[in-house]
Amino acid sequence: MNRKRMKTALFIIVVISILSYLNITLMAESKKENKKAKSATSQEEGYTALDAWKGKEAEAKSNYMMYCSPCHGENGRGNGPQAEAMEVPPRNHTDGNYLSTRSDEQLFKVVKEGGPAIGFSRSMPPFDYTLTEDEIKGVVKYVRTLCNCGYKKAGVAK
Ligand code: HEC
Repeated sequence: MNRKRMKTALFIIVVISILSYLNITLMAESKKENKKAKSATSQEEGYTALDAWKGKEAEAKSNYMMYCSPCHGENGRGNGPQAEAMEVPPRNHTDGNYLSTRSDEQLFKVVKEGGPAIGFSRSMPPFDYTLTEDEIKGVVKYVRTLCNCGYKKAGVAK
């Protein structure tokens, strides 16, 4: 092989290795994208308040203090400063007996779409423009810590 040929061969090898390196990184990137898309859909499929809650306890509490406590009270007893002026009293979020009859999906719907969405008063406002779905799941989980209760299907003993 003469020098010129060797140079050309080397050049070709370098180009091929650069191209295959690029190809591998691109493939890895698109795999990552696929994974992201998958986890987004699997969250939509079921109600996963726990996923939304992980590591977000402080954020959920401060959202509750900011958006819910004016009516529901800082401790969730339904006695916030705005409660006095309301015809329908805000729900007491520490009432475990009552709240264990309500599923997380039901609570989520009321907070997202407002009271009328499930036949309650419009004094309970919708939060879908204020909070993201994950933030709403977070405050629902926070309500569960106030009542210290989970959803129990009717007829299931404690
Ligand atoms: C403007 C006052 C007001 C604000 C702000 C408010 N609520 Fe309410 N909420 C109410 C009232 C009033 C009711 C009771 C409605 C009824 O009984 O018809 C209620 C009911 C509820 C219920 C009861 C659902 C059930 O199944 O019984 C939940 C849960 C709830 N609110 C959560 C929240 C959360 C979480 C926030 C903050 C993101 C919030 N609320 C902000 C007034 C308010």
